[in-house]
Amino acid sequence: MIRHLLGIEGLTLEELEHLLLNAASFVEVSKRDIKKVPSLRGKTIINFFMEPSTRTRTSFEIAGKRLSADTINVSGSSSSVVKGETLLDTARSLEAMNPDAIVVRHKASGAPHFLARHLSDTVIINAGDGMHEHPTQALLDCLSLQQHFVERPQGIKGLTIAIVGDIRHSRVVRSNIWAHKLLGNKVRLVAPPTLIPPEFLHPDCFGDPSFLSIHHKLEEGLEGVDVIMGLRLQMERQSQFFIPSVQEYTNEYFVSSNLVDRLAPQAVVLHPGPVNRGVEIATDLVDGPRSLVSRQVNNGVAVRMAVLFACCTGDRLEREEAA
Ligand code: NCD
Repeated sequence: MIRHLLGIEGLTLEELEHLLLNAASFVEVSKRDIKKVPSLRGKTIINFFMEPSTRTRTSFEIAGKRLSADTINVSGSSSSVVKGETLLDTARSLEAMNPDAIVVRHKASGAPHFLARHLSDTVIINAGDGMHEHPTQALLDCLSLQQHFVERPQGIKGLTIAIVGDIRHSRVVRSNIWAHKLLGNKVRLVAPPTLIPPEFLHPDCFGDPSFLSIHHKLEEGLEGVDVIMGLRLQMERQSQFFIPSVQEYTNEYFVSSNLVDRLAPQAVVLHPGPVNRGVEIATDLVDGPRSLVSRQVNNGVAVRMAVLFACCTGDRLEREEAA
């Protein structure tokens, strides 16, 4: 039996809610004086990061340590991949040392799925693959919203979320779309036409398309929303010119605090980071009272504890085969 977390796509609502519930219960561990529980004692977790990362890599490492697992970090520049070894050969060498889980970040969409298909004994957790998925980011976004909307009778169901920015190159957006579809929320994608992936225009892209709408005018996309999620312009993934210039993008899509009046009264601001202040979003929004940005980072540890626990112990995420 293989157990992985490769994406939010394919999870059931029950599995998503179960992970969020476990994550919520792990939040408290990080507030203790001694921030450790024995849940994964004797387990070995390898963080195999082939792309830069601050929040995700650090929080996976902290999460593993707080669960008493042994965690080892392997980065792209320090692995044999730079000597010409294939990704699979490197991963097989890591697997030969009997880790319980390998957490993978890779610039190629599908790399964790590929490893999950080829490694027989190791759990694979996707920490962000190319422009595809970033499941733990969507989970920590949902947990942060759950905490904020705790008084709302229906919790985080029935919300309207506007995701603004470089949709085309974002893995965060795909994982969030799947999560909010499961939760029964409405998602508005707000971006210039060139930053919307062409496949998103296909009505079958995410199944029933009624929960998803695309907006090219910022003011219209933000009208009455409960959540704004800002996204960075991912210049490192842009092989062509998708916008005339950063200045022209900013002129039309910069989320400024003047737009707050258009939002729902309880509305909050999310951003996965890193933030390009002054390019996609105003500093006073990122640092202001509606911002959940620090809370998102804080929740990253608890969410990754829940995911590591689920995957390393087989708790409710069992799969007959890799997705
Ligand atoms: C995101 C990522 O790497 O996909 N960041 C993150 O994990 N916190 C978003 C981004 O890089 O812009």
